[in-house]
Amino acid sequence: MEQSKELLNDPVNIKQQFPIFSKFPELVYLDNAATTQRPQQVIDRINDFHQRENASIRRGVYQLSARATQEFEAARSTVANFFKAPQDDSIAFTQGTTESVNIVSRSIISNKLKSGDNVVVSLLEHHANFIPWQMLCQVTGSELRVVPITKSGDLDLNKLDSLIDSRTAVVAIVHISNTLGTINPIKEVIQAAHLKEVPVLIDAAQSAALYPIDLTELDCDFLVCSAHKMFGPFGVGVLYVHPRHHRQVKPYNYGGGIIRSVKVERTEFLPYPYLLEAGTPNVTGVIGLSEAIRFIETLDRENLVKHLHKLTHIVRRELADIDGLSLVANPTLNSSIVSFSLAGIHPHDIASFLNEDTIAVRAGQHCTQPLLDYLGFSATVRASLSIYNNLQDVDKLVGSTREMKDFWT
Ligand SMILES: Cc1ncc(COP(=O)(O)O)c(C=O)c1O
Repeated sequence: MEQSKELLNDPVNIKQQFPIFSKFPELVYLDNAATTQRPQQVIDRINDFHQRENASIRRGVYQLSARATQEFEAARSTVANFFKAPQDDSIAFTQGTTESVNIVSRSIISNKLKSGDNVVVSLLEHHANFIPWQMLCQVTGSELRVVPITKSGDLDLNKLDSLIDSRTAVVAIVHISNTLGTINPIKEVIQAAHLKEVPVLIDAAQSAALYPIDLTELDCDFLVCSAHKMFGPFGVGVLYVHPRHHRQVKPYNYGGGIIRSVKVERTEFLPYPYLLEAGTPNVTGVIGLSEAIRFIETLDRENLVKHLHKLTHIVRRELADIDGLSLVANPTLNSSIVSFSLAGIHPHDIASFLNEDTIAVRAGQHCTQPLLDYLGFSATVRASLSIYNNLQDVDKLVGSTREMKDFWT
């Protein structure tokens, strides 16, 4: 059913688009940085594909396969348009952000990295954008340089410039920190790196859904994200490679679907992006992602982000008021992610207690151990909001946290 834009952007109506909340009306879902919920529109599209369009792509000449192939390639255009990529064929489909970073590291950057070169990442990185670079540096004898953060949890831009030099192979930076919520000034990072002719990878896992990204304007070299954090399905992700690097990309997995010809003596591969899509791709996932983007495009993202920032501001203010509660960092620009700890109560106990009140938050290191080590926390509780969260959710989180504090002390 066609929904009007006004209807979709009303937070109550947005919630109604997500069937999990009618199944569990009490659920206060605050683990959106881990994965977002799926709207009916995406669930229906995936079901529809299974019921009426299911076929493997590329190989079939019959109608069903041709149609599925068409849908798959149309999804590539949908993703490219959404991110304003310079060309549709700049987009490759992967399993997710983690695989996309590994591909850039092992199928592109590794080809040019030599002993004595370096890779620049930041202390805010998720392990997915940290370990692949650390491993690559170890095997090539290169140096991993880590941009520090300031006390408030912002990227230390003054240090960034001095870490990039003529031997930097890539700067790999997260757009929004999944632990602190810091929104990094990626435009400035890209400009600083490009002044020294160094390519930049942007990890947009936390930003791709709601913060408009214009790849043509940004001019970054690589961008990675995951469908499941964009109201889409698990197991599918995006890799954007700027056309200036297409010819340098080597296959990541070998197998069917990526070849021009195979002889006993040698194999010739298709160009990027097809040489990265070996084997039968996650066709349903890609079609689900495409539908998720159609869903996002019906939203007034600017207003929703403002609404989210307001709610997050309330969460921070109210939580900070609880005796013994510490907010972990206070970034200048932060999205809708709040990490905190409570003196004397282990984060896992806090999350379990909140779970008793049907509040879903995450406790742990959020795949950012170097960051937590630096900040001096062994773990934190993380509440991360999305478009279906409202003031009642925030009140419930703050109320339950207060109750727990009183109960425990
Ligand atoms: C900033 C960031 N980068 C990378 C990832 C890894 O994403 P995925 O597990 O979908 O590959 C995550 C997941 O939480 C993330 O938040």
